Amino acid sequence: SIIVPSVQEMVKEKMVTTVPPRYVRPDQDKTEITDGSGLNTEIPIIDMKRLCSSTTMHSEVEKLDFACKEWGFFQLVKHGIDPSFLDKIKLEIQGFFNLPMEEKKKFWQQPNEIEGFGQAFVVSEDQKLDWADMFYHIVQPIEERKPHLFPKLPLPFRDTLETYSTEVRSIAKILELDWPLIAKMARVLDVKPEEMLKLFDDVDSVQMMRMNYYPPCPQPDKVIGLSPHSDPNGLTILLQVNEVEGLQIKKDGKWVPVKPLPNSFIVNIGDVIEIITNGTYRSIEHRGVVNSEKERLSIATFHNPGMYKEVGPAQSLVERQKVRKFKSLTMKEYMDGVFSRTLDGKAYLDALK
Ligand code: SIN
Ligand code: FE2
Repeated sequence: SIIVPSVQEMVKEKMVTTVPPRYVRPDQDKTEITDGSGLNTEIPIIDMKRLCSSTTMHSEVEKLDFACKEWGFFQLVKHGIDPSFLDKIKLEIQGFFNLPMEEKKKFWQQPNEIEGFGQAFVVSEDQKLDWADMFYHIVQPIEERKPHLFPKLPLPFRDTLETYSTEVRSIAKILELDWPLIAKMARVLDVKPEEMLKLFDDVDSVQMMRMNYYPPCPQPDKVIGLSPHSDPNGLTILLQVNEVEGLQIKKDGKWVPVKPLPNSFIVNIGDVIEIITNGTYRSIEHRGVVNSEKERLSIATFHNPGMYKEVGPAQSLVERQKVRKFKSLTMKEYMDGVFSRTLDGKAYLDALK
């Protein structure tokens, strides 16, 4: 990764009235944005408690299946994580981004490092940048944590993030089944546990976190907060940190703004699950837009198979569908490919076809 300046700092220090050229995006996608009225303009809502309370086919399981096939996104409610804990982490994330630059510098990306504060997917000095700062790090397995990042985060934030990471993993534990979301997907797709579920077992599965800070922008239409992309992971669990909207997903050729419900998570299928399900569940393109008034913050948690696990279409699906839509590769090969590119819609996944 290339070292980039802090957009938050730039906006804070100087009275920015015009966007610096490095952030102007003439290439921005001009696809129509829906106004939110009419049919098919809101992502499905899945009730985790109802999902987990059934062992057989059930309307909530069918809803999950539909959401993963048609939308690749859903809002998860009744997930069992205490709303007061969510309030706590939201405040602490805001505090973390508001630390003095002197403190944040300790966590800034180093040359050729993706983890820390900065931007991901920046591969050349003349590449256009997103209107945002992010903090990205590997959280699990513990041996993969960078010594100068997670272990050095200020307290109590470090402890809160640790708890959050466990809680998000254990959105799972309601049914004492590992990964009820992925387990339900495997069941409804009728694939063998080893083809899907076991890839995400607790031993070596990888969890990463990305916190995003999008400052207000005087010319919001000239910039993009987060370039269009599909998530290069298994499953993403996203929490909106403040009340400001900005996430849009591409549905039937239009951008659909997501309207988060209070205390819900936005869950989306990443490329790895699209690969494993042989294209049945879809990793949908999305982006982040900014506005002129308010900052926006979010935290995304990504769940992946272990680095040395082989990822490819589940054999039982390939046999039934009589077509193998993607090549197999290890997670490491996959991630190395991801981080050597810029974000470009679904281009990387398409190259694996
Ligand atoms: C994403 O991680 O793709 C979305 C982040 C956000 O909503 O800010
Ligand atoms: Fe994403």
